[in-house]
Amino acid sequence: MTRGGTAAHERRFAGDPERLRSAERREQLEVRRVVELSGGKGPPGLVLDIGTGTGVFAEGFLRAGNAVIGLDVNPRLLAEARAHVPGARFVVGLAERLPFRDRSCDVAFLGTVLHELDDVEEALREARRVTRRWVVALEFRYVEEDIGPPLSHRLRPEAILAAARLAGFDMVERITLRRMDFYLMRSAAHGPCEQVRERS
Ligand SMILES: C[S@@+](CC[C@H](N)C(=O)[O-])C[C@H]1O[C@@H](n2cnc3c(N)ncnc32)[C@H](O)[C@@H]1O
Repeated sequence: MTRGGTAAHERRFAGDPERLRSAERREQLEVRRVVELSGGKGPPGLVLDIGTGTGVFAEGFLRAGNAVIGLDVNPRLLAEARAHVPGARFVVGLAERLPFRDRSCDVAFLGTVLHELDDVEEALREARRVTRRWVVALEFRYVEEDIGPPLSHRLRPEAILAAARLAGFDMVERITLRRMDFYLMRSAAHGPCEQVRERS
């Protein structure tokens, strides 16, 4: 699903970096629970945090014992990420053109990123290509809310599921969290799944 070019645009986050790091936002996003769900029961691994912003989830994955690479198109946000999460490695790049080899990391994570992308399908295809275990996306629900992007920027779950299928995922599981939707995506090329199953 393509929604425009690669230049900065109105859907892309351009606010105060500290807003991404607020305690209230972390609470709303359930960062710790999302990190646990994303890791499954398997051993820690190498997590690629795509659209890492200021590194909120990168920090969570690191604390859980993983090695972490954070990637983002915005160098200003990455400077904040490096200052706050010195244990992770951060690189400038595009989700739609990941600068990594096939199957070079265990899990790819996209935290409230899909709705900002120019090409969701291509970004998911790229995330699938570089992972050995699975791909996780966390997204806002398709409802008007006091937090997060306006409804016109949000993605319907059907659009995310369709993009995931076109990107080559055979299994997509959607878990409803308190305020967010959590998507676990796997393909036949990924290894056996040790993911904790949780619904609410
Ligand atoms: C709402 S912020 C979320 C940041 C972080 N994942 C978090 O939850 O705190 C979305 C992030 O995606 C990044 N982004 C948007 N489009 C991107 C693209 N095509 N490639 C890489 N990063 C992108 C933005 O720069 C921004 O940092």
